[in-house]
Order: sequence, then structure tokens, then C-alpha cells
Amino acid sequence: MNVEPIEDLGCSTLLQVVEKPTLFLDRLITVNPVMLILKEKVKRLARSNLSTLIMGETGTGKELIAQAIYQLGNYKGEFVDVDCGGVPQTLLESEFFGARRGSYSGCSHDRPGYLEIAANGVLFLDEVGEIPFSLQSKLLRVLDTKFARRIGSTEKYPVTCRIVSATNQGRDKFRKDFFYRLAGVILETIPLRERMQDVKLITESKGLSCPAEFLDHDWPGNVRELINRIEELKLLSI
Ligand SMILES: Nc1ncnc2c1ncn2[C@@H]1O[C@H](COP(=O)(O)OP(=O)(O)O)[C@@H](O)[C@H]1O
Ligand SMILES: [Mg+2]
Repeated sequence: MNVEPIEDLGCSTLLQVVEKPTLFLDRLITVNPVMLILKEKVKRLARSNLSTLIMGETGTGKELIAQAIYQLGNYKGEFVDVDCGGVPQTLLESEFFGARRGSYSGCSHDRPGYLEIAANGVLFLDEVGEIPFSLQSKLLRVLDTKFARRIGSTEKYPVTCRIVSATNQGRDKFRKDFFYRLAGVILETIPLRERMQDVKLITESKGLSCPAEFLDHDWPGNVRELINRIEELKLLSI
């Protein structure tokens, strides 16, 4: 709740501006029974520390779910969002573990890794299937022992973050043991084309009545594509 004095009104009364709390989970609009169960699961497991793997096509709300877990889990630490496909492979290891000054060329000072930055928070590994097998086994060891070491350092630090991951790929992208380590619990999102009622609902929630052609499209980009189409139509209708 935000309480702010408003000074510009020229009156001495302290006005209270109460913002409506916005929960990430409430932003996930759906009437699909399986997605509704998924939302309930998110509420229940948010307060646990279980490694959580969210599987589903691109644009189906995986990141939104990860943010909801963090928000409902009351973490002391940060939400650290890593796009595993976007980090150059040569840097991946030092980005994850951190590096000691001089441990590789261009490393001019001690650097913390994602595992440290996310201490007592959530490390969100987006597109986790993009992590190469060699790094998967190193991460597995860290997640099992709960300790890691910066590259070039002999000192260990404790790993206290919760791991939440997302993938739109199958299990063949993973070392088996790493997959099971990530998947303390698996949450599966459903493609939008299998819940067309949501198309109408999401469109209307954005202030647009649902055009007939929206219900006749199979939405390969799922909700992300739908939102883009909605914004486009709203702009054109101005
Ligand atoms: N059920 C939903 N209702 C409303 N907005 C949604 C829903 N699912 C996803 N979104 C929105 O669609 C976009 C893509 O979702 P995102 O969580 O990034 O998908 P993914 O991580 O699976 O690619 C985001 O803007 C997100 O807020
Ligand atoms: Mg995503």
C-alpha cells in the first residue's frame, strides 16, 4: 500500500492515495480449468522452496508465473531473471558463478555471479534448455551441494536462492539428472489455441470487443501474439 501526501492541491489535508495492489497471478486471465488449477498450485507452492520448472510454448505466461511465485513467496532477496539463450556461451560460466579479478582476460575486478546476486531470492532461468550440457553438470553439482565458487577463486560461498526455470523445449535438451534437479515440481501451461474462451476474455480485459477472426486463428505466438494484435487494433481504431 502506498500512502503519499499530495502537496500540489494547496490544502493542508493529507490525502491518502491507496493504490490497488497488483498481483502478477491476477494478471493471468483464464477460465480454462487446467490453467485455473495451475494458478492454485502456484499459490500453494510459492511459499515452499521447491525447484520449479515451468514448461509450455512461448507466450503462454511462463515468465508471469515465475514472477507470481516470487511475489507470493515473500523473498528477502531479489528476482534475478536470466535469459539462458541470450548469454554468450563463453561467458555463461562466469556469469553464473562469478569471477575473481584477473581470472580471464577483461575481468578487471571481482564479479559476483547470478547465484550470489539471487541470494535468498529467486533465480529465474528462462529458456533453461539453452544451457549447454557441460554447464548443466556443473550447475547440478552446485545445486546439490548448495555451494559454489567464483571462477579463479578457492573460496566457497553458500547458494541460497530458489531455482525457478522455464522452457519451451522437450526433455531431450537436458541431462536427465539436471532435469530432475530443476523439476522439483513441473507446471505446464496450455497453448492459447486449446483455450479459445481465454482469447475472448483477454481481449475484452484490454478494452476491445473480440473480433470474429480472433476466434478463427491458432495463435502460434500465444498470449504475446494476442496482446500485440489487440494493441495494433486499438491503435488503428483511434
Ligand atoms: N493468461 C494471460 N492473461 C493475460 N496476459 C497474459 C496471460 N498469459 C501471458 N500474458 C502476457 O503475455 C505476455 C507473454 O507472457 P510471458 O509470461 O512472457 O510468456 P512466456 O514466458 O511463456 O513466453 C506477457 O505480456 C504476459 O503478461
Ligand atoms: Mg518468456
